[in-house]
Amino acid sequence: MKDNSRPLQHLISSKQLNRELIKKIFGKAEYFENSNSVNKKPLVGKVVACIFYEPSTRTRLSFESAALRLGAAVISTESASHFSSAVKGETIEDTIRIISGYADAIVLRHYKEGAAEVASRFSTVTVINAGDGSGEHPTQALLDLYTIKKELGRIDGIKIGLVGDLLYGRTVHSLLRLLNLYKNIKIYLVSPKELRIPEEIRTFLIEKKADFKEIEDLSTILNDIDVLYVTRIQKERFKSKKKYESLKASFQINNSVLRKLKNKAIIMHPLPRVTEISFEVDSDKRAAYFRQAKNGLFVRMAILDLMLGED
Ligand code: NCD
Repeated sequence: MKDNSRPLQHLISSKQLNRELIKKIFGKAEYFENSNSVNKKPLVGKVVACIFYEPSTRTRLSFESAALRLGAAVISTESASHFSSAVKGETIEDTIRIISGYADAIVLRHYKEGAAEVASRFSTVTVINAGDGSGEHPTQALLDLYTIKKELGRIDGIKIGLVGDLLYGRTVHSLLRLLNLYKNIKIYLVSPKELRIPEEIRTFLIEKKADFKEIEDLSTILNDIDVLYVTRIQKERFKSKKKYESLKASFQINNSVLRKLKNKAIIMHPLPRVTEISFEVDSDKRAAYFRQAKNGLFVRMAILDLMLGED
């Protein structure tokens, strides 16, 4: 049932978040991270539906694990494009109307930008955007930010280089909106010309007077940044295979990059990686991406607790 007293009825975009809410989510995430088992099961009796129309490992399984650890039951379809009634031609509107009769929250991943927003209009229960095409991925941005805070001890004042597919990479879009909430952030947007951030995000950054620079050469910023945030070139979003082939090897983080990177810097990646980070980087203490993925569990527990729990 709709409950207008909650701070967040749906989580569709990072635009909905502010520092106070993020602080609350991080406080809960820290609590879940530090208590081996959650004694109190705040979501007993609730049902969380994970409906994924696109592939996922981390997002779906960490959401499911988070829900189960909080005492909720989980129903899911991991390949909704093939195994749900979408195959028979059912619209997302109808599917969501139906599922909202069975669950207390819908975690939705869809290949179309804007799908989560549409779903939220047809759902009578909480909708959480787990990635909508090349639009947004707000829960990833929250876990990214949580990782930065945990690894560096601060968010204000950091210098971050976002590298790779900034055009189609939804995690970057959501993270840029969140970074804007913090002070003195220096942002380097590093990509080939063809994969620069979408116009809408650029306009947002300009309007917010963000300190950002769009560049193509990663080597010029390596001794300046605290966070190197690497992304996969999003093969599935390209209309032309040839174009993808020409851009897929745009960046490669390897030992020679590590040598130029600050000692205290961290390397992040929402994962999965393909070739953009060499395996040799994994053993470096600055490689934070596996720790980052693990943080996803605690942050998603916090999000579910905030959105579905009692307090
Ligand atoms: C990302 C996504 O799905 O947008 N993965 C994730 O959720 N951790 C990044 C990607 O697929 O490249």
